[in-house]
Order: sequence, then C-alpha cells, then structure tokens
Amino acid sequence: MKRLLSGIQPSGTITLGNYIGAIKNFVKLQNENEDVEFFVFIADQHAITVPQEKLKLRENIRSLAAIYVACGLDPKKVHLFIQSEVPAHAMLGYVMECTAYIGEMERMTQYKDKKVKQVDGVHCSLLTYPALMAADILLYDTDLVPVGEDQKQHLELTRNLAQRFNQKYGDTFVVPEAYIAKEGAKVMSLQDPTKKMSKSDPNPKGYIALLDEENVIRKKIMSAVTDSVGTISYDPANRPGISNLLTIYDVFSGEGIDNICKKYDGKGYAEFKADLADIVVNALKPIQERYNELIKSEELDTILDEGRDYASKIAFKKISKVYNKIGLGRKR
Ligand code: AMP
Ligand code: TRP
Repeated sequence: MKRLLSGIQPSGTITLGNYIGAIKNFVKLQNENEDVEFFVFIADQHAITVPQEKLKLRENIRSLAAIYVACGLDPKKVHLFIQSEVPAHAMLGYVMECTAYIGEMERMTQYKDKKVKQVDGVHCSLLTYPALMAADILLYDTDLVPVGEDQKQHLELTRNLAQRFNQKYGDTFVVPEAYIAKEGAKVMSLQDPTKKMSKSDPNPKGYIALLDEENVIRKKIMSAVTDSVGTISYDPANRPGISNLLTIYDVFSGEGIDNICKKYDGKGYAEFKADLADIVVNALKPIQERYNELIKSEELDTILDEGRDYASKIAFKKISKVYNKIGLGRKR
C-alpha cells in the first residue's frame, strides 16, 4: 500500500491557484486510488515562519479544513489533520535541521523570494522551513507527495535529507517522490501573468479566492490582464495572460485547449472572459454552499479530531525510532 501526503499553509484566502494546483489533484487522487493511504494536513506551523495575526490564523486554519472537505476530500478516505496538533512534526523538524546544511537551505528559491519581503526582519524558521516540510513527509513513510511545481525544490531537498539520514543511521525513511499534475499545474496572477497566482498577493485582483462572491469573480476575470493581439490562442511564453485564462477554462470545462481556441476563433476577449466567468462561478457555487454548512459545524471538529489521533499514532512511532537511531535520551 502506497502512502500519499500533502499540506497547504493557512496563510491567507485559498485561491483558484491552490485549488487547481493542489486541492483538485488531491480529490482526483483520492478517487482514483483504492490501495493508498492519504494524509492531507493544514500546515499551520509553516504559516508562522512569517508574521501572522492570532485571530486571523485561527480563522484561516478552520477555513482551510472546511475548504478541503467542501472541495470533495472525503474524511473516510483521507486523514485530515492540523500540523501543530501532532507534535512529532516539530520534533522531527528539529532532527532534520540537524541533518541539513545552511548552504542547501539558502539555495531554496522560495526562501530567497520570501526573505526580501520581510520588512521587520527574517525569522530563522523561514530559512529552516524545508526541514519542517521534510519532517512532515518523512514521518509517515510517504511515497508520493502531490504538490505544485513551486514545491519541487523542497521535495528534492527532502529526498536528500532522507538519504543522508538513512546512510548515516541505517534505513529509517522512505525516500519520497513529488507528484506534479500535468495540466494546470501553475495558475498565474490575473494582473501579472508572469507571476504565479498567490494568496499573499497584496492586490486581490491578482487572484480569485475560492470563497469570492459571484460578482467579485466576474469583475476579476473581466479585468484580467491580456495583451493587444486580440485573438484567443495558447502561447504561454509570448502571451501569458490569455494562455493562463485558457488553462483555467480548460481545467473547469474539460474541453481541451485546442477545442476552446477553435470555439473562440474570430471572437474577442470580452466574450471569452464572460463565458469563463460563468464557468468559474458555476464550478465554485457547490463548493461555497458546502463550505457554509461545514464552517460552524461539529462535524468538522470530529473530522479533525479523528485525523489528529490517527496521524499521531504513526508519527509518534516514527519519531521514537528516529530518537533511538540517533542516540537521543535513553533507549526505549
Ligand atoms: P501556497 O499557496 O504557496 O501555500 O501553496 C499551497 C499549494 O498550492 C502548493 O501545493 C502549491 O504548489 C499550490 N499552489 C499555490 N499557488 C499556485 C498556483 N498559482 N498555481 C498552481 N499551484 C499553486
Ligand atoms: N510548503 C508547502 C507550501 O508552501 C506546504 C507544505 C508543508 C507541504 N509541508 C508539506 C506540502 C508537506 C507537501 C508536503 O505549499
């Protein structure tokens, strides 16, 4: 039986990028695979590598949990839990910091990108973040990690850390692989299509939040940046704006990019965008309805309690084994 695991940070409103690049794939994987065990968690300890407001963080954690379920993750098939409620993550994270070198952490492009945005100083954890991420993965003997393209480098580092530890202390960790979906793997900002759509974008017009209201979604799509060519064709290198919109159209309609281009042959951006807005609004409606049911429910707490208890058992066994291998504490 294979193990899959992935997580998302509760560091802002979940966007269409998160949905297409991550959550939608999780749901597909859950439904396609019978013989797997799947863990999906809320990476709240990762979120505090940059400053967070207490109440907002609490809200975002619960909101992400509800979004997971509303998007179709089935708690009968997937173990859903909150990272900080399973202490073994931080414990193994520390061991991974003792396995990694500063140089390899400093080479991470996400660190370099995020570092320059920290006006009030850069916390140590922003640098060591990939050690915690490696711990998240290695605790569960994970085989496959479904993530967006931007996480590939962290996965590669996780593999190196696992191998390094195994070499020094003997076989302890499964060396995981990234699983990156082909289509729609990266959704770009609606305002600057050379950058990825991000929930931390200070300009909300750049992203569509999963919980955005219908009129907001329409407005954002209608004002998405394209170019002056005026035709509907797919050319991500030279025409990133329209290509990004085509990707989103294809993900939700399943029509295929070539067919969509043919359909809009001779038509302009306005008509294409209005249709795309309809498609996105209709796709998000059932998700938003289910979300509103879940967000205040006890059902959500039960799901998270069960996920935490199940994950804790596996994770605690692993961290005990790791401590023994290293020689920490007394032999157990
Ligand atoms: P983040 O929002 O950076 O915490 O990412 C959470 C998950 O969503 C990761 O697996 C990312 O790879 C994925 N993701 C985030 N933004 C995008 C995007 N614009 N396009 C595709 N995937 C994304
Ligand atoms: N670092 C990931 C991100 O920013 C989130 C994450 C944390 C994660 N731990 C993980 C993803 C473990 C997959 C597996 O998107």
